[in-house]
Order: sequence, then structure tokens, then C-alpha cells
Amino acid sequence: MTARQWVWKAAGLAVIAGATAWLASGPSRAATPWGADYFPNAVLTTQDGKTVRFYDDLIKGKSVAINLFYTSCQDICPLETAKLVQLQKLFGARMGKDIFFYSIAIDPWDTPKENKAYAQKFGVGPGWLFLSGKEADIQLISRKLGLSRASDAVSKDGHSASLMVGNVGSGLWMRNSAMDNPQFLATTIGNFLGWRDPKADRSYAEARPLDLDKGQFLFQSRCAACHTIGAGDRLGPDLMGVTSRRQRGWLARYLAQPEQMLAEGDPVATSLFKKYRQVRMPNLELGTDDVASLLSYLEARSHANGEPPAGKEAGKEAAAVR
Ligand code: HEC
Repeated sequence: MTARQWVWKAAGLAVIAGATAWLASGPSRAATPWGADYFPNAVLTTQDGKTVRFYDDLIKGKSVAINLFYTSCQDICPLETAKLVQLQKLFGARMGKDIFFYSIAIDPWDTPKENKAYAQKFGVGPGWLFLSGKEADIQLISRKLGLSRASDAVSKDGHSASLMVGNVGSGLWMRNSAMDNPQFLATTIGNFLGWRDPKADRSYAEARPLDLDKGQFLFQSRCAACHTIGAGDRLGPDLMGVTSRRQRGWLARYLAQPEQMLAEGDPVATSLFKKYRQVRMPNLELGTDDVASLLSYLEARSHANGEPPAGKEAGKEAAAVR
């Protein structure tokens, strides 16, 4: 069964408790309706093969951020994980102390071994567990967390990129998108959990005006978790000068349909894939305008850094992948 069918089945079982309903409870109540009686205490296994109980070991008395994933996902969710890695970096020493991240594998084929390799590829640090378990238990946990919905079955990834953040003691929960800007998420979650971080107390008067062009905005929100322009490889190649080393037509198609070019055996896509074996360039469902804005932005950035303008060196597609 694919992960998508799985969610469909999960969603069919019951009407899901939405996050909004949960928010009705306030922190002042001593007992919340979402305690030990509500959450399953199912046995799950971490990426290191350790057995844990969902309620007792993972969430009781803790602040947590939980999302669903599966290791073979090739659409939007690699970006979801890459963004959470950035969020984890922003949280720094709070990870595993003030907040715990849990990514729950919804594909029954994902074993601790696969989850561990996946976590390592993305450079996941302490305080973040990748969990697998019995299919029925995971369905129940996802449902109880409000993380699986009927509409997810028709989405490309089979689940929504939601991140449920909660403090189990107070019964306060909120739903975020794991795709949001990590800086924004860090601030939102910090505020929600009542953290006092003096460094974050900057006045709005100091804020720089938001002056992003569309290409820059797209790059920062969709690409920067995996790519830099001139600061070296991350999960994907450094994109400095990419508009000179590849033809525009190739780039435009690659940004729109990387998986298809790989499937067709395009030589450059194939050698890039072999070189950056850890993660695949995802299809981010960019429109023609998005692709054009991104390419102009990449070109302007490369040019500003002394790369020759596009066109001069184009046509070297057959050359070995740098
Ligand atoms: C989840 C990580 C990830 C995200 C997000 C991502 N990429 Fe990639 N990208 C890769 C990987 C990995 C490769 C190398 C090819 C492969 O392994 O599939 C790649 C390859 C590329 C290449 C080819 C580079 C070359 O040397 O020819 C370009 C261009 C590119 N990405 C642009 C983008 C742009 C623009 C965005 C944002 C809209 C983006 N990528 C988002 C991971 C990512």
C-alpha cells in the first residue's frame, strides 16, 4: 500500500479531531481533555532502534513539535524536512530540553534503519526522533493529533505539511505549516510556548523594510533550505553560476519537472542525481512565471559575484557535472 492509500484508509476510519477544537482549552485548567486518556500509549521505535511509548516517553510533560513524513516521498516533503532542520538550528540548545521534535513515518515500509539514514542525510541533530511503528497505531496517533485528514489522500504527498506544536501539560496545541519560513516558525513557536529570549526582543522600528523581489522571495522560501548561491553545497549543489553552466531551456525544464527529466535519463539530471545521492531535487510545482523569476534572480546573483553573464558558456551541457 502506498503512503497515500494509507492516509485515505486512516482518514476513512473516523472524523478527525481538528486543531481548532483543541484550542478551546486554556492553560489554567489543571487537567486537560488531551492527556493520558486521549493519546494512545502505543509502542514506537526510534531511528536508533529504541522502543518508546508515545504518551509516557514522548509527549507527557513536554513541549513537542510533530509532523508526518515518509522516507521515499519525492514531492514537497523533502523541503518540509529541510525547513525543520533550519528550525532545529534556530532552536539550538533548546532542542531536547525545551522542545522535542518527532517525525512519524506513515509508510509501513519505513523501518528504523531507513529512518536513520534519512535523518542523517538531512543532518538532523539531537532532540528529534524519527519514529516508526505498527500501522494501526500510527493511524491512531495521526488522527488523535489532527495530522491526517480525508483531503490529504488527494494531495500529491499523501499528507499535509502540518506541524502540530503542543504543550501536553497545559493542553495547548496549535497547527503550523512545516513549510513556513523557519525564522517565522521559531518566533511563533517561542511565543506560543512562552519562551523569553532577550535576543528576539528587537523593536519593529529596527526592522528593515521588506524589499524582496519575487525571485529572491521564491529562492528563500523554496530553495534556500537545500541550496546556497556561493556559500557551497548543502543538500543540493551551490547554484552560483548555474545560469552560465547550463542552458536556460534545460534549467527552466529542470526546475519545473526534475523527476521527469531524471526518469527520461537526461544525462545532466542523471549525473547530478548520482553525485548528490542523499536527497532528490523535488518538484515544487513552480509555474512558468516562478521559474522565470528564479532564473533571473540566480543569474543576477551569479553576475554580481563576477560570473560571466548567461549565454557565454552555455552549451556545455554535455560537459561533466561540476
Ligand atoms: C529538498 C532539497 C531541495 C530543494 C528544496 C531544492 N533543491 Fe534543487 N537540487 C537538490 C538536489 C539534491 C539537487 C541535485 C540533483 C538531485 O540529486 O536530484 C538539486 C539540483 C538543482 C539544480 C541543478 C544544479 C546544477 O548544477 O545543474 C538546480 C538549478 C536547482 N536544484 C535549483 C533549485 C531551485 C531554484 C529550487 C527552489 C525553487 C530548488 N532547487 C529546491 C535539492 C533541492
